[in-house]
Amino acid sequence: MAEPAIQADPSVCELRCIGCGRTALPDRFRCEYCRDLLEILYPGWRNGGPAGVDPASLKTLWRERRTSLARPDLSGVWRFREILPRIAEQEIITMGEGDTPLYELPQCAKSVGLRCLYAKHQGMNPTGSFKDTGMTVAASFARQAGYRWVACASTGNTSASMAAYAARGGLHSLVLIPDGKISWGKLSQSLDYGAITCQLRTDFDGCVRVLNEVVERLPVYLLNSVNPYRVEGQKTAAFELLEQLDWEPPEHIIVPGGNLANSSAIGKALREMKDLGLVARLPRVSVIQAQGANPLVRTIRETKGEKLVPVHAETMASAIRIGNPASWKKALRVIRETSGTVEQVSEIEIAKAKAEIGAEGIGCEPASAVTLAGLRKLVEQGFVKNDESVVLVLTGHVLKDADFTLKFHRGDLFEGTADAGEEPDLKAFRRSPVALDPNVEAVIDLVRSRDS
Ligand code: F0G
Repeated sequence: MAEPAIQADPSVCELRCIGCGRTALPDRFRCEYCRDLLEILYPGWRNGGPAGVDPASLKTLWRERRTSLARPDLSGVWRFREILPRIAEQEIITMGEGDTPLYELPQCAKSVGLRCLYAKHQGMNPTGSFKDTGMTVAASFARQAGYRWVACASTGNTSASMAAYAARGGLHSLVLIPDGKISWGKLSQSLDYGAITCQLRTDFDGCVRVLNEVVERLPVYLLNSVNPYRVEGQKTAAFELLEQLDWEPPEHIIVPGGNLANSSAIGKALREMKDLGLVARLPRVSVIQAQGANPLVRTIRETKGEKLVPVHAETMASAIRIGNPASWKKALRVIRETSGTVEQVSEIEIAKAKAEIGAEGIGCEPASAVTLAGLRKLVEQGFVKNDESVVLVLTGHVLKDADFTLKFHRGDLFEGTADAGEEPDLKAFRRSPVALDPNVEAVIDLVRSRDS
């Protein structure tokens, strides 16, 4: 394995430590002095915005690119390239990510007691999750920097996305996943796209520990969400959302929390939009975790955000089964800056919310459904008012975890778990398949019995 040659473009962006503020080399992940995470900043913006372009012109430019046939413009990420690190066009690995739909959820709005509720569906990306928006930037950076290998530890979506982008970009990829703890749909993607896939007999946090040592010893570029280039790509989802809302911010954005990079990315985007004069005020960003994987909730409630409280994570929402989130400080900053909050939801609340989003004809994976379940609580607490506008960030496609969906509708999702017998409430949300003889009358009778 040859060492890659790194080239930086300090006139455009620089890496800075979120703790001590020192700058770092462009391919680092942590500050070499205080070990805190790094983030990308754009010193050039101080002189009148990206490339000296004013906010109104930026808005027009980005919208006009939606009708352009130029390769980077066909991506909902690279369409916003003025707010991204500079990557040479021939190095960009893109699969037409971003430009995801913003759906209204009228039934869910009614169910939680809101007038208006939207879902920004990041599961409608090429590999079925929000990871693609960050992966296009970080994988392209890896290629531009001369790396031949990329690697990640994952609960399934990052690995699917990384494997796909590596394959498209001619890079080798190494995936570490917790054995038996990711959905088979996500595992099958990683295999199909050609990654070397290692199932380690540990959890996600254990996979991260192993991988951190591997990347110290081999010239392999780490594509976990501590990678600051991934955060830059994921940030474009918020720019795109605001564009879809004609730059009128909603009152609330609700994000699921795992390793806490996505909430950090969305918050960074909002901060930049305000600094650039693209929006006048910030929505509140709130993060929802599964009760069994709630380190951020505990950190805020038990230490007022002073010290991370790692947990042994357990939840059926396997994408967010994470007990030691890397980006907790960044997410905490976003919650504080935007006056958002945190909440946790039970397994039963997640399952019910997922079925409600499914019944709107949209669907999502369990980890995404924590947003609706958490929103219900925030409305009950009066944190979200009935006439406020809310956007849920749905992070993964409904087909990512078909097992969960089938078990839910068949009624055996909670069999053998601590929640068994606790779920009679869910009966109304189940739509189990009906086994019938191949008989016309039987089918017609069934339809008539359901025609209310
Ligand atoms: N939703 C889904 C569908 C996810 O896959 C993840 C994270 C999250 C939410 C949480 O996002 O980590 O930025 O707070 N999945 C990672 C993975 C960890 O490996 O695929 P986060």
